[in-house]
Amino acid sequence: MHGKGAGLRALRALSEQAAGCRECPLGFYATQTVWGEGDVQARVMLVGEQPGDQEDQAGRPFVGPAGRLLDRALTELGWPRERLYVTNAVKHFKYELRGTRRLHKTPAQREAAACHHWLESEIEAVRPEAIVALGATAARSLLGRTVPVMAERGQWLSRPDGRRVLITLHPSALLRLRSPEREQAYAAWLEDLRRVSATAA
Ligand code: URA
Repeated sequence: MHGKGAGLRALRALSEQAAGCRECPLGFYATQTVWGEGDVQARVMLVGEQPGDQEDQAGRPFVGPAGRLLDRALTELGWPRERLYVTNAVKHFKYELRGTRRLHKTPAQREAAACHHWLESEIEAVRPEAIVALGATAARSLLGRTVPVMAERGQWLSRPDGRRVLITLHPSALLRLRSPEREQAYAAWLEDLRRVSATAA
C-alpha cells in the first residue's frame, strides 16, 4: 500500500534532488527548478511544458498568464486545484534574452529527455489514475512519441504503465489567439478537459 506519508516523503526528497539538477544546460540559466505541486494523492495530474518567466521567479508551476487561464478553467469545471497535482515536463525555464525581457523558448527534445526521469518519478510518487497532457511537449514526454495534438486532442491514449493520458492544448496556445477565435478555442478546450470529470470528481 502506498500511503500519503510515503508519497509526500518521496516527493520532498525528489524535489530536493531536482533543485540542484544540471543534467542539461537549462539549470544554469534559470532562477530555480520548478517542481510540481498539489495533492500527493491526486487522482488527476496535469502536465505542462516548462515554467514560464513568472513560474521561474515564483518557483511554482502555472502561476503566470497560462496558469490564470488554467485556474479559470478549473473553476468552471469545479475542480479544486489543490486536489490535483500540477507539474511540467521540463523543470527549468528556457528563454532567450531580448533586451531585459526573457522570451519563452520551446525546450529541445534532448532537454525534455534529460528531465523525463523527474516527471516519471512524480508519476510514481503520486500514482494518478489519469494524466492530462497540456500540449505537445507534455504529450511526447508522457507517451514517448510525437503526438499530433490537434489530431488527437480530446482522446485518451495509454501509456505502457496502463495510465490514461488525455491529450489537449496548452493554455498558452489559446492566449496567442484573438477574439472571437480565443473564446471558441477556450470552449473547445473546456470540452476536452470535461472528459476527465468522472475521474476528477
Ligand atoms: N507553461 C507551462 O507549461 N507551465 C507552467 O508552469 C507555466 C507556463
